[in-house]
Amino acid sequence: MQTSVINIENIRNDFPILKRKVHKDKPLVYFDNAATSQKPIQVIDSISNYYLNYNSNIHRAVHELAEESTVAYELTRDKVAKFINVKNREELIFVRGTTEAINLVAYSWGRQNVQKDDIVVTTEYEHHSNIVPWQLLTKEKGAKLEYIGVDDNGELKLDQLDAYLDTGKVKIVTFSQMSNVLGTISKTEEIIKKCHQKGVRVLVDGAQSVPHLKVDIQKLDCDFFAFSAHKMLGPTGVGVLWAKKELLENMAPFNAGGDMIREVHKYETTWNDLPYKFEAGTPNIADVIGFSAALDYLDKIGMDKVREHEIELTKYALDKISAVKGIVLYGTPDITKRGGVISFNLGDIHPHDLATIIDEDGIAIRSGHHCAQVLMERLDVSATSRASFYIYNTKEEVDVFIRSLNRARELFRI
Ligand code: ALA
Repeated sequence: MQTSVINIENIRNDFPILKRKVHKDKPLVYFDNAATSQKPIQVIDSISNYYLNYNSNIHRAVHELAEESTVAYELTRDKVAKFINVKNREELIFVRGTTEAINLVAYSWGRQNVQKDDIVVTTEYEHHSNIVPWQLLTKEKGAKLEYIGVDDNGELKLDQLDAYLDTGKVKIVTFSQMSNVLGTISKTEEIIKKCHQKGVRVLVDGAQSVPHLKVDIQKLDCDFFAFSAHKMLGPTGVGVLWAKKELLENMAPFNAGGDMIREVHKYETTWNDLPYKFEAGTPNIADVIGFSAALDYLDKIGMDKVREHEIELTKYALDKISAVKGIVLYGTPDITKRGGVISFNLGDIHPHDLATIIDEDGIAIRSGHHCAQVLMERLDVSATSRASFYIYNTKEEVDVFIRSLNRARELFRI
């Protein structure tokens, strides 16, 4: 019941948590990968190896442990650069996650560049982390926040983007490369080109795309790009902001403190070089080092294979789930335009009740508004259930999930 693309059995053996049972004797079926992925033993070992053998602060002392931890931390930056094809490693800033990356841009770049009556454009399918920082900014500045709508197939209405760009007032367009609810893959390159033709900056939220698709920053040529380690086999508390050097050089720091300075005098401070200017304080050293092992793991499989596996699995799941009586699916049926995320409702069962029932069968899904209440309003629902897949999920698990949905349907007499 594997997909034809990758050897899932070998992969599953690397994830200790997939061996555990839940509710006494039910094998865990983990379909909540859009929230956070599981971690392979290589990542877990790499973190404990750091604490067991060379725990120390970075960029400061000259002793051997400090040298080892600094080298390992900076090696992750090189690996990230290679993974998403970034030319200049100093353009990569380690942050806590996508949320912090977007807040950094809205705070540092936004406060310097967005003024009264300017427009910031986002979309109706954004996560709250790509809405709320822009609400704060536009309110503070007397600027406007506008939304690109979502059509009935779950795709962005790009004619609305054209209309906003034609006003000549847009300063930045910010959108997810893949929706965390609908799985829709945005027409990222087309949006970036349109914006750049009008001299408008672009931020791409890659939280859901980088774990599942090959992303090439030089090809995309956006201005800012954000993503998190924990959705791609890495630890929580680590994210990446990439931005063009000339932008970062002109931005004020976001957090101030140790390591981000060159010289501090009583009343004046000068900033450290990039990327350190944006990495104040002791960073999340162990987890950045752990992220390295996650990047190696995905590299070894190959992102093209990750994508192919998810297409095959999602297609299988969509075929099966469509046949469940009473199911309502959200997003496009076109598998080439979506990732491995399926949002749905079943009859009038509340998503929290449904998630609780299928949890009894060992299946972990997310239910609720998925931090995307603007999209829930657009879909005219208060919540959905969401199953999201990754490299270790199998067609067999999809079958268990479908059987469980049918059990819930029978319980509720749908
Ligand atoms: N952003 C994560 C999700 O979609 C938490 O579930």
